[in-house]
Amino acid sequence: MLPAMSQSPIVVILAAGQGTRMKSERPKVLHEVAGRPLIIWSIETARAANAARIVAVVGHQADRVRDAIDRRYGAGAVETVLQAERRGTGHAVMCALSVLAGESDDRVVVVLSGDAPLVSADRVRELVAACDDMALAVTRPTEPVAYGRVVRRADGRVDRIVEDADATPEERAIEEMNAGLYAIRLGKLRADIGRLTDDNAQGELYLTDLAPGAAAIEAPFDEVRGINDRADLAAVNAIARRSIAQRWMRAGVTLEDPVATYIDADVDAIGGDTWIGSGVHLRGRTSVGARVRIDAGCIVQDSAIADDAWLKPYSVLTEASVGARAQVGPFAHCRPGTRLDEDVRVGNFVETKKAHLMKGAKANHLAYLGDASVGARANIGAGTITCNYDGVKKYQTVIEAGAFIGSDSQLVAPVTIGRDAYVGSGTTVTKDVPRGALALSRVKQHNIDGWADRFRAAQAKRTSSR
Ligand code: UD1
Ligand code: CA
Repeated sequence: MLPAMSQSPIVVILAAGQGTRMKSERPKVLHEVAGRPLIIWSIETARAANAARIVAVVGHQADRVRDAIDRRYGAGAVETVLQAERRGTGHAVMCALSVLAGESDDRVVVVLSGDAPLVSADRVRELVAACDDMALAVTRPTEPVAYGRVVRRADGRVDRIVEDADATPEERAIEEMNAGLYAIRLGKLRADIGRLTDDNAQGELYLTDLAPGAAAIEAPFDEVRGINDRADLAAVNAIARRSIAQRWMRAGVTLEDPVATYIDADVDAIGGDTWIGSGVHLRGRTSVGARVRIDAGCIVQDSAIADDAWLKPYSVLTEASVGARAQVGPFAHCRPGTRLDEDVRVGNFVETKKAHLMKGAKANHLAYLGDASVGARANIGAGTITCNYDGVKKYQTVIEAGAFIGSDSQLVAPVTIGRDAYVGSGTTVTKDVPRGALALSRVKQHNIDGWADRFRAAQAKRTSSR
């Protein structure tokens, strides 16, 4: 028999349950912790632990769960097995055995629960190292939970696990509980799993009935905590948030208030000396450069923010890129396809979508730039709107380098404003503007002398005669 340490384990992830206690239309393992579905956390743990194979047991809404896995890793990268009927954790592992027929008896199978996302790869390695026939993790919960109670033998090995529903009051008083992760020799699984019975309070085949004689390792509750309901989900999110915040602070990022900062697990870079205000959300695959300032309340999703940029309060960015030293907000909305080059300024109440603003371009107040390309140093006046949509199709607006768009102008696409051209305030541009020209479309102003005085006098007369 190979020593367990010398081989990488097969990891089986139990993810077939409905998660009744979540009271959700969504399968439990697709609920998210720090922006990542639970099932993805378990798969990431398995990968980090160098799993030889990863097999997810799916059942309830299996197609949705499979889709979520395939979307992230590509079709087939993670094997799935269908547990058509949910007959318990023992039965789920039995289903997984069907795809392990070619593996040798001395392989170690690690079983993870798809609802315990924060288990570390180190813990998996420790468990594999402790496994002769079987090892499992025990934990001492810091609050009341309905976990399996672990009864130990005099030699420290597991005597048995009693599920909460089956426990006597004395057994229920046991403080050591089953964390729900196991390393089991494949030969033992093959020999023993057929002997499980559903002779228990829940009428299920319990994987925990294989535990007698197993070695036990200890794990902190925060790490192995499972998610059964929404309160658990919030608690585990808080734990994840705290550890993610710690990691970035140690990497040289200032968080004004780490408890009120929401950084997703998949945010892969935040540079040194970046400052992040309270209530900021960095979501999805966002990356942030060095010396960036992100003020309170910004929500940044799947975006790239370059060095020395400044996101002012309450700006919302989705699938956007922000160049070095660029400034955005307060209250700016950069929608998908926004590309701001170096030194660009996008000010308050400016909305951008599929818009490329080149180096040093400015749109400082109240504007909508959609399907637009804005050349270097161009200045977009307050209230400028690209009219990019005719109700059927979208059209492109091109504003060339150095152009100046006066306030309250409408640019009716498709249209091009030439290099260094001017658009007078209040102009509706419907034709291309040549390089260096001035476009003006507004009605000529004429003043009527004394009109306001006469108007007021007439009003006053009417009210007094009433
Ligand atoms: C389980 C353990 C319990 C342990 C606790 C730790 C059993 C019988 N009990 O209880 O000792 O203290 O975890 O969190 O194992 N699943 C399937 N197919 C099924 C049933 C469950 O795939 O037929 C999956 C679920 O989707 C879930 C995991 O297995 O991801 C655990 O099932 P769950 O019902 O949450 O078990 P617990 O009651 O929490
Ligand atoms: Ca559970």
